[in-house]
Amino acid sequence: MHSIVVALLFVLSLLSTAIQAHPSTSTPDSTSNTLLSSCLLSKGIKNFSYQSNSPSSPFNQLLTFSIQNLRYSLPSTPKPAIIIFPLFKYQLQQAILCLRQRSLTIRVRSGGHSYEGLSYTTSYHTPFGLIDLSNMNQVQVDPASTTAWVESGATLGEIYYNVAVKSNNTLGFTAGSCATVGSGGHISGGGFGLLSRKYGLAADNILDLIFIDPNGRIFNRSMMDEDVFWALRGGGGGSWGVVYAWKLQLIPVPNQVTWFTVSHSGPIKPLANLVHKWQFVAPNLPNEFYLSTTISGSEDGNGSVSFTGLYLGSKGSAFSILSDRYPELMISESNLEEMSWIDSVVQAAGLNSVSDLRNRSTNSKNFFKAKSDYVQTPIPKEGLIGAMKILTKEPSAYIICDPYGGAMARIGGRDLPFPHRAGNLFSIQYLIDWTKSEEGMADRYIAWLRDFYAYMGSFVSNNPRAAYVNYLDLDLGTNNWTVGRSSTVDDVNHASLWGDAYFLWNYDRLVKAKTKIDPENVFNNEQSIPPLPK
Ligand SMILES: Cc1cc2nc3c(=O)[nH]c(=O)nc-3n(C[C@H](O)[C@H](O)[C@H](O)COP(=O)(O)OP(=O)(O)OC[C@H]3O[C@@H](n4cnc5c(N)ncnc54)[C@H](O)[C@@H]3O)c2cc1C
Ligand SMILES: *[C@@H]1O[C@H](CO)[C@@H](O)[C@H](O)[C@H]1NC(C)=O
Ligand SMILES: *[C@@H]1O[C@H](CO)[C@@H](O)[C@H](O)[C@H]1NC(C)=O
Ligand SMILES: *[C@@H]1O[C@H](CO)[C@@H](O)[C@H](O)[C@H]1NC(C)=O
Ligand SMILES: *[C@@H]1O[C@H](CO)[C@@H](O)[C@H](O)[C@H]1NC(C)=O
Ligand SMILES: *[C@@H]1O[C@H](CO)[C@@H](O)[C@H](O)[C@H]1NC(C)=O
Ligand SMILES: *[C@@H]1O[C@H](CO)[C@@H](O)[C@H](O)[C@H]1NC(C)=O
Repeated sequence: MHSIVVALLFVLSLLSTAIQAHPSTSTPDSTSNTLLSSCLLSKGIKNFSYQSNSPSSPFNQLLTFSIQNLRYSLPSTPKPAIIIFPLFKYQLQQAILCLRQRSLTIRVRSGGHSYEGLSYTTSYHTPFGLIDLSNMNQVQVDPASTTAWVESGATLGEIYYNVAVKSNNTLGFTAGSCATVGSGGHISGGGFGLLSRKYGLAADNILDLIFIDPNGRIFNRSMMDEDVFWALRGGGGGSWGVVYAWKLQLIPVPNQVTWFTVSHSGPIKPLANLVHKWQFVAPNLPNEFYLSTTISGSEDGNGSVSFTGLYLGSKGSAFSILSDRYPELMISESNLEEMSWIDSVVQAAGLNSVSDLRNRSTNSKNFFKAKSDYVQTPIPKEGLIGAMKILTKEPSAYIICDPYGGAMARIGGRDLPFPHRAGNLFSIQYLIDWTKSEEGMADRYIAWLRDFYAYMGSFVSNNPRAAYVNYLDLDLGTNNWTVGRSSTVDDVNHASLWGDAYFLWNYDRLVKAKTKIDPENVFNNEQSIPPLPK
């Protein structure tokens, strides 16, 4: 029944690709599709769909289902010639080889949350195939050894859910807060979250992994080059090959944690004072404490500052720490709530129930642009007042400040590709979002965010101005595709524009790892790490 349906869809898709013109991208002709289909089918891969606008084709729904940034879901966005859904490791390996055999560029998607859509599109307008990992989302928890093996199509929500349920709420994992983020892209780029001041990034807690290289060879840690194992844990997704699965070090969580959110709004000046103080408090709190702040402005000239807090301990203890170190926050004990760790995960993800964590379509989607910075010296009050004044001009924009310190400062800046450790007080994320009806304003919004980022330049890290690879930002520069896939010394130098910002002193070692594992640059995108020429 399955294969009949698929075969029928396949025939329909051949017909529709043959009769439809796709101005946004070149599509392989039907002979080419036939050859690709027979390659896939001969390996037992049955779930795939060719590009098609036919209403009977599932293609558009399958493509858009995990597109998080709607800027990359427009009709003009280049679309893959095919989407393939492998079910297990062998199919993933064979999907890579079939796409290579047909000379299609490869895109790999886990949760689809790339800020710049790099997992499912390309600005290069070359024919490409998309391997979507969402059917490979098994999470196997071993509470006795406090570890788990997770397939890289699993979302963070699926991981948190399974770890909590299978450990009877005794274990957790340190990673980001949004439940629908995929572990494939997230851990590849680091993975910061509410437990990072205590336990580091998700990538800091990877014990082993299973990796498929561009030639389809399968490795685990014991067989892998050290530079490659290092690069896969934070060097950014899409540059190396495909991580099939991760082995996670789980962490103990207390029975009860303390959760709170509190916001203040009103005239800018006192709010700027509050944020000014936050810079001294949040990075120096006990490692069990996460306290972030989100700042925005409204057109009436007032500002709004909200705080999100998680403390791995009791409400009484959290309250006394805050009263002592940050009385200006004016928090009362009734703002604090004790709950299980997994319930705090539900809160942080903005969901309603623990079972929502497994739902891959809970997240609301919009059009957005983001940029990031690192702060090493507290921003002076005047600087903060200036920033908040600018924010009042654009209510669609906001910034999120995440506190570092603790384990983030203890782990060495060369241990993994992620270099933003000791000396960083906090990260800033600048975001602006809009809806479909405001599409005509997109360029204006993006320009506004760039201007705001320019204003902030004198208060943040410089030489280079650092950024976080998971907050991907193509403004930092892109590979020059007009020269083709091969890469030259000039290309490697050019890529240091973003390579240095994301990885600082680790960029050269990433180039070395890339040259070892993918010298032909099979896995590439607008900001992938280029290999050195032979
Ligand atoms: C709403 C939202 C909330 C976020 N919250 C956080 C947060 O709290 N903390 C944080 O650190 N980051 C956060 N991020 C950023 C997020 O970590 C990155 O966007 C991450 O790359 C997304 O992973 P993904 O698998 O969902 O994305 P995808 O778009 O599927 O992939 C991202 C990149 O990784 C590659 N890739 C995917 N899977 C694999 C694989 N198995 N092997 C090799 N390469 C692969 C893709 O090709 C692409 O280049 C958030 C993003 C969004 C949109
Ligand atoms: C293929 O996988 C997608 C994504 O999980 C799913 O929605 C679809 O039903 C699957 N199609 C077939 C024919 O199994
Ligand atoms: C699960 O935890 C609860 C309380 O923390 C405890 O009462 C119960 O016995 C545990 N169940 C198992 C199966 O360990
Ligand atoms: C890694 O691969 C080797 C060789 O296939 C195997 O012997 C070993 O058990 C694997 N390690 C893990 C942790 O799977
Ligand atoms: C600005 O904030 C002040 C103090 O909270 C409040 O009195 C005032 O009404 C706010 N202005 C507007 C236009 O909402
Ligand atoms: C998943 O979330 C979406 C959006 O909130 C909702 O419409 C859908 O019913 C949910 N699915 C399940 C299985 O709970
Ligand atoms: C890209 O490479 C081509 C060919 O070498 C060159 O002409 C062009 O200027 C390059 N573009 C950029 C942006 O570097």
